[in-house]
Amino acid sequence: MNTYISTCVSGATEVVKEIISASVSDVRFVLDLDGLIMYRSNLDPSIIKQIRGVNNSFLVVRSFKPGEVAAIEDLVNKGIRDFSIVKEIHEYYGKKRSRVRVMASVGNKTVALARPLLEKFESKLIQRSELKIDRRLAETEVWFVVRNEGMKFIGIRLTMSRVDEKDLQPGQLRPEIAHILCFLSHPNVDDIVLDPFAGAGGLIFERTNFKYKEILALDNKQELVDKLTLKAKKQNKKIRVFRGDALHLIEIENSSIDKIITDPPWGMFDTSLGDLKAFYEQMFVEFDRVLKQNGLVVLLSGQKEVVDELLRLKVDRFKLIRRYDILVSGKKSAIYVLSKR
Ligand SMILES: C[S@@+](CC[C@H](N)C(=O)[O-])C[C@H]1O[C@@H](n2cnc3c(N)ncnc32)[C@H](O)[C@@H]1O
Repeated sequence: MNTYISTCVSGATEVVKEIISASVSDVRFVLDLDGLIMYRSNLDPSIIKQIRGVNNSFLVVRSFKPGEVAAIEDLVNKGIRDFSIVKEIHEYYGKKRSRVRVMASVGNKTVALARPLLEKFESKLIQRSELKIDRRLAETEVWFVVRNEGMKFIGIRLTMSRVDEKDLQPGQLRPEIAHILCFLSHPNVDDIVLDPFAGAGGLIFERTNFKYKEILALDNKQELVDKLTLKAKKQNKKIRVFRGDALHLIEIENSSIDKIITDPPWGMFDTSLGDLKAFYEQMFVEFDRVLKQNGLVVLLSGQKEVVDELLRLKVDRFKLIRRYDILVSGKKSAIYVLSKR
């Protein structure tokens, strides 16, 4: 049986555990911390690596409880002295001629290891294996991780080809957060889904990883609409893209949408929005009109005070089902799951 760790966006541990359980069978959770889930499974790493909604997944070679190992240097020294650790890493790679690098993090921040220590471990790693050290263009990574809670582990990163910030268009949601929002909408094969603030399409493209009947994507910027249309065509995705105003969805009939999954502007970069409270209030009026009875809204916003106040005082057509306070690029935000009354 293998031990795995998946990391996730802070505040989303509970829902990411649900995603892991729904994605793979044979999982026994052993520990969860904020943004980190440890579990045991007989499944092969190649299956674990496919799980979406997580930031990264690792095959754990060794883990240590708080107090067992003092600092990152002690952890690396364990890797140098305990031959069985390197042996297990070699077993994972087998005859693969991978380019590998050694990484370390303390309290969620990547740290540089002292050169002599790093080189000592690297030389152990390449001894009697086909592995090559390549610190710049590695295909695979061995990690030494020290968490703030005191837990530490040595692991092999399974999710190497994940999207970097530079692969995303400005404002585009990271796929793992988009996946969490889509999952929270209880995806169904008959869903007619709308994202009226589609932007670069982070949410709607992630939604195509689940079954659906129809996806509608709308934005008020023509250039974004054009890019989305092209991307959907290139990827052969059944998505209807059009330009429009999310506050006046004239193209969309009353009670015709099952789910709205969206990330409206947070008012930090776009000064043309005017009074943000009025903007969000009108948005809810329009969502109420186009949604079917019991339809769902999954909304991400960095304007928690605005949304909270509206839900408390003004927007009585929606019931709050779940709410997650998460960090998006370091900014406090929340995911709201709302059901139309
Ligand atoms: C936070 S971004 C959405 C990003 C998107 N989730 C993604 O992954 O790319 C908000 C988007 O709403 C659009 N927008 C702003 N006001 C709008 C309105 N009244 N109607 C429709 N779209 C609007 C902006 O052009 C922007 O693309």
